[in-house]
Amino acid sequence: MDNEGITKEADLVRVNAIVSEYSQQKWALIPLLQKIQGEFGYIPPQSISLIAGSLGLFPSQVQGVISFYTQLYTHPRGRKVVRVCRGTACHVRGGKTILKLVKQRLDLEEGETSPDFEYTLETVACIGVCALAPNIVVSDHVHGHMNPKKVEQLFRNREGRE
Ligand code: FES
Repeated sequence: MDNEGITKEADLVRVNAIVSEYSQQKWALIPLLQKIQGEFGYIPPQSISLIAGSLGLFPSQVQGVISFYTQLYTHPRGRKVVRVCRGTACHVRGGKTILKLVKQRLDLEEGETSPDFEYTLETVACIGVCALAPNIVVSDHVHGHMNPKKVEQLFRNREGRE
């Protein structure tokens, strides 16, 4: 997978095959987008006009739906998505420091993906387990009561930056 989105012929062939399954079924836009994202890990921007054309929609309509749903992405993401909670409970219990340490360890800023596509770093408002604050989520697994040592242990395979 590369940062330029879908550039390989094999990928375009695969997108075409998926799109043809849903052709002319306007109701199927979201399932189709989910299927393409399931295949590639994101929705290649170059596939948007193809999707729109097959469903009789404008590319701007497809783009609008992708923008509306926060679970749909038009850029490659890491195999592990790290979400650091910035909610109030986590914030007052040191969440800001945890975020800083995770950034250093992964050498990523919010919204970035590592060049090896191992990690994507995001922040979230509250993940609903405030009693365990401060929290981070790695690949949908909650890690509560975070502290500097736990950050180091969780990401010990990364060298990070000073
Ligand atoms: S504020 Fe972090 S889990 Fe609620």
